[in-house]
Amino acid sequence: MSVVEARSGEAVGQEIEIRGWVRTRRDSKGGFSFIEVNDGSCLSNLQIVADAALENYQTEITSLSVGSSIVAQGVLQASQGQGQATELAATSVRLLGDAPSDFPLQKKRHSFEKLREWAHLRPRTNAFGAVARVRNCLAYSIHQFFQEERFYYVNTPIITASDCEGAGQMFRVTTLPLDQVPLKDGKVDFAKDFFGKASYLTVSGQLEGEIYATSLGRCYTFGPTFRAENSHTSRHLSEFWMIEPEAAFFDLSDNMALAERFIKRLLTDVLSKCAEDMKFFDERIQPGVLAALTTVKEKPFQHMSYTEAVDILKNSGEKFEYAIDWGADLQAEHERYLTEKHVQGPLILHDYPKSIKPFYMRCNEDDRTVAAMDVLVPQVGEIIGGSQREERLDILLERMQQLGLSQEEYWWYVDLRKYGSVPHSGFGLGFERLVQWVTGMTNIRDCIPFPRTPGSAEF
Ligand code: 4AD
Ligand code: MG
Repeated sequence: MSVVEARSGEAVGQEIEIRGWVRTRRDSKGGFSFIEVNDGSCLSNLQIVADAALENYQTEITSLSVGSSIVAQGVLQASQGQGQATELAATSVRLLGDAPSDFPLQKKRHSFEKLREWAHLRPRTNAFGAVARVRNCLAYSIHQFFQEERFYYVNTPIITASDCEGAGQMFRVTTLPLDQVPLKDGKVDFAKDFFGKASYLTVSGQLEGEIYATSLGRCYTFGPTFRAENSHTSRHLSEFWMIEPEAAFFDLSDNMALAERFIKRLLTDVLSKCAEDMKFFDERIQPGVLAALTTVKEKPFQHMSYTEAVDILKNSGEKFEYAIDWGADLQAEHERYLTEKHVQGPLILHDYPKSIKPFYMRCNEDDRTVAAMDVLVPQVGEIIGGSQREERLDILLERMQQLGLSQEEYWWYVDLRKYGSVPHSGFGLGFERLVQWVTGMTNIRDCIPFPRTPGSAEF
């Protein structure tokens, strides 16, 4: 007898064992119990038909409760009932772990807000099981894509001294006991700390990625990143995962083309490998998501400069909460207008004002804009941020000076421009924003197993 997963689609007549958690139990008058079991391998439950002749029928089976774990053996047979093609005619049903009646996930709908309080149990629901499987599929596909494109997977540090984005949104790391933080001139003396200088959780692996791109040629990171920004929105997390490819000899247009190939490949994989889960999202979470993603993977992405986008927004006649003028950062409402109303699909915006972008972006000839690119999608807005990097030593140094960045602190980054500098580009894809877009889930907190947001980290 083989132990099988519900997703494997065993053939009728086979003798199998199934292990999972009870979703429902119904006892019929004719001396049968129908037990729906989910084993996490797919959205569908497997129906087990337990006959009253089983030795523990009265003592155990007829009191099996929702949430209990069981092991059942039997023969797969064509089902008479509706909703499933096959069912298991059980020869044995064994209870492993009981779930008393206070198990919170009884057969009633809970709001996603409520489920966030039960991060330890919510993966047992249909929606969170499906999100977890889609996330897994996307992660695998991300590695496959970059491996096939001959990018090397590089692990960049989590603890770092540099603020890549220059936004001052870093979590500080210290080993100093709170009541013994030594002060020097009224400031914390980090020389006495474990790392000997101020250190933080990384906001991006890009700067270190550039080191490997300018040696291996092409690399990518895929790891956790942290932002201490006090944003309480449906698309911000304090801890999120980012995928950051970096490629030597790539200019901005190579970078944009890579991002488009990448996204299309991820959609192709998730639509084919997670068809059942995606159908669930389409039917229950965001009607139309399947058709929208299918269109995205077939049509070329639209491109537009930041300057054109601002003109479109100003002439749109829309009443935005935040006014938009050249030089201001786009807000979520602007990104959504452009992607949902204007182009109705993904949009790559490029050449942003220098003043709103970090020090490392390559200066354009107009000296007002930089070779930046963001990929925006409907519902979510920005999912990718990237740029061509400044490879010219003199211009980089000038920019760093303007922004008050110390050349001594970033000596290693400057060295990359001193020794064999090359044009190079890269971007960062926010993994949870990708999951949010693909699944149609409305809140990013439901797209990561254990969401961390300002003021909230249960465990
Ligand atoms: O645009 P960002 O800040 O770009 C960078 O960090 C670059 N260093 C990346 C690079 O060029 N290698 O962030 C990149 C992406 C955003 O487009 C967004 O998808 C996601 O990371 N992101 C967040 N996701 C969830 N919560 C947050 N607080 C996020 N901040 C950024
Ligand atoms: Mg950005």
